[in-house]
Order: sequence, then structure tokens, then C-alpha cells
Amino acid sequence: MEIPVQLKQSTYSIIIERGCLDRLHQYISLQRKVYIISDDGIPTTYAQQVKKQCKYGFIHIVPQGEKSKSLDVYQEIIQELLKLRFSRKDLIVTIGGGMVSDLGGFVAATYMRGIDFVNIPTTTLAQIDASIGGKVAVNIGNLKNIIGAFYQPKLVCIDPDTLQTLPKRHYVNGIVEAIKAGLLCDPSLFKLIQHGDIFQDYETILQKAILVKKNIVEKDEKEAGLRTILNFGHTLGHALESCYELQDVLHGECVAIGMLAFTHDPILKKQLCTLYEALGLATSLPYHIEDVYNKIVNDKKTDAEYINIVELSTIGIYEIKNIKIEAIKQYL
Ligand SMILES: NC(=O)c1ccc[n+]([C@@H]2O[C@H](COP(=O)([O-])OP(=O)(O)OC[C@H]3O[C@@H](n4cnc5c(N)ncnc54)[C@H](O)[C@@H]3O)[C@@H](O)[C@H]2O)c1
Repeated sequence: MEIPVQLKQSTYSIIIERGCLDRLHQYISLQRKVYIISDDGIPTTYAQQVKKQCKYGFIHIVPQGEKSKSLDVYQEIIQELLKLRFSRKDLIVTIGGGMVSDLGGFVAATYMRGIDFVNIPTTTLAQIDASIGGKVAVNIGNLKNIIGAFYQPKLVCIDPDTLQTLPKRHYVNGIVEAIKAGLLCDPSLFKLIQHGDIFQDYETILQKAILVKKNIVEKDEKEAGLRTILNFGHTLGHALESCYELQDVLHGECVAIGMLAFTHDPILKKQLCTLYEALGLATSLPYHIEDVYNKIVNDKKTDAEYINIVELSTIGIYEIKNIKIEAIKQYL
């Protein structure tokens, strides 16, 4: 299946196909230098499968975990690209979860003012969300995504077979972004996750969630308005990730708590809790309100006094509100 993403200045395809990892050369030219970035938690066979198809392929493995989304690792990669004499005509391929696609995408966005890149997402979170839409970034300390860009890939190649090696906790973590897409824009997607089987129904869940994000990104690539709704659950989610110092909790697990806090309808809240419990997600996390509040104040989406929040009344009914930053405490 091929889903085109049509933006004002570029168009690219999202390919969803079992086995497409071995057929990357059919979708994009690998007759140039190709720098493959992956992490050491991901089976190396995936990077090897891609390297085999390249005329000049190089593999760079970074340590797994959010700490690699850093300026240090970024600089290391840039220095190696220079040493290998990569030009703007060459290609970067990321193979991994959202950490690798954010890091590799940011390298691509900035190396010589921009070089082509391809995302091959291997977690549910990256397939459903992080690999599409062109947000790329690194962290500073435990402040998430504070240096970044909007920079679109040339291709996203999704091979659902790569999920066979993904631990269950990470699998469920990414499904949270599909729950978000369903809650905001596609009740049938939410129902499918609620009543179906997230493993058996994965490809349908993936397609529906990608269509939600694609339609939003096509209308508002740089988050000037509508795309803000995709931050539903993320203001609190990111703050929780920072409070937990990016260690004990996963992105989706924190976003799940964030979505609960910003959903009004008590019946829907209850349904969400039931769903989280069935999936093995927490319905609450211990935190100090002042700590979380301070993280939110430091978040890049705030200006001095006001903050944008996304509230969900019930499925499909959302509102973007610009509120005084102190007022966020009532949601915490
Ligand atoms: N750019 C965006 O739009 C966007 C959206 C959401 C999240 N994000 C970012 O994504 C990141 C989180 O992404 P994530 O949840 O994918 O985490 P991750 O990239 O850290 O991957 C999670 C773990 O799974 C392992 N792994 C990955 N693929 C595997 C596979 N197929 N088999 C076995 N192990 C595998 C990795 O080694 C890692 O240990 C965060 O940095 C978050 O900020 C970005």
C-alpha cells in the first residue's frame, strides 16, 4: 500500500508492505553514498538488509535510549559524514524507533543545509507517528525536542514484519498514538482498538492512524494551527517524561496519562481507563504538581504567560485553548 503525503513544497510516499525493507532500492536510488543510522537495541540484520542494496553503504549504530537524541551524538555523526565526504546528493536512512528518526532526521535537516533522508520505522510509535510529518529534533539534557526543525523525509518505508522483534511494552507504547488519532478524528479507529486485537488488526490500525496524521499535516505542515491538536496529551506527557528523567517511563505511557487529564467526558474517561488496563498501561503516575508545572513552563510550546492546550469534550470534539499558564494546574 502506498499513501502519498502532499505538502506545499514536497510530496513523498509512505509505503506499507511486509518485506519492503529488502526492496528499498525499488523505491529510492541507493546508487550513491548511503549513511544508515540505527541503535544497538535493534537487530542489526535490518541495517545489513539495507546496506546490501547500496552501492556505497555505511552503518552507524548509536546506543539505544533517549540519551542518544543529544547534541554530542549529533556532532559525532556530522563529523563522520564529513570524514566520509558525504555531499548533499547523498542519502541518510534511519532504521529504528522515534529516537533514531528524530536524531537522523535532524542530522539530515542540518547537514550542509539539508540532505535527503528515508525513514524505516521499526517501532509501532515510529510507524504510526514519529516517522511521518517531518518533525525532527534532539534534546538538551532532559528538555525534550528543544532543538529541531520541520524537515520532511523523501520516503517512509514501513515493514510491519520488523515489529516481530519489538518487546510488547514498546508495542503497546506506540498504540497510544493511534488511540490519540482515533479520539481526535476517527471514532472507528478508537472502536477497533477498544474491541479488536492490536496485534491481529495492526495493519488497519496503522493505516487509519497514518491517514489521520497525513490529513492534518497536509493542511498545516508547520503547526500554525490545526496540527496543534496532535499535541493532545503531550503537554503533560512531555513534562512527565522530563520529570522521570527519560528513564522509567515511555513516551506513549506518559501521553496516555496526559490524554486522560485533558478529556472531559466522564464516560469516555472510564472507557479510556478500561482500555489502558486491558493494554497494560498505567491510568495514573505519581508526580508532584509543582515539578510537572515547572517542566511545562520550560517547554518550548509556551510563551511567557500563556500556553496552548488541547481539550477533548468527547470523541471527535476537541478545542485548542490558549490559557494562562498558571491555569494548567487545574488539570494536573
Ligand atoms: N517526530 C515526531 O513526530 C515524534 C512523535 C512522537 C514521538 N517522537 C519521539 O520518538 C521517541 C520515542 O520513540 P520510540 O517509542 O520508538 O522509542 P525508541 O526509538 O527509543 O525505541 C524504543 C526501543 O525499542 C528498540 N527497538 C526499536 N525497534 C525495534 C525492533 N524492531 N525490535 C526490537 N527492538 C527495537 C530500541 O532499541 C529502543 O530500545 C521519543 O524521542 C519521542 O520524542 C517523535
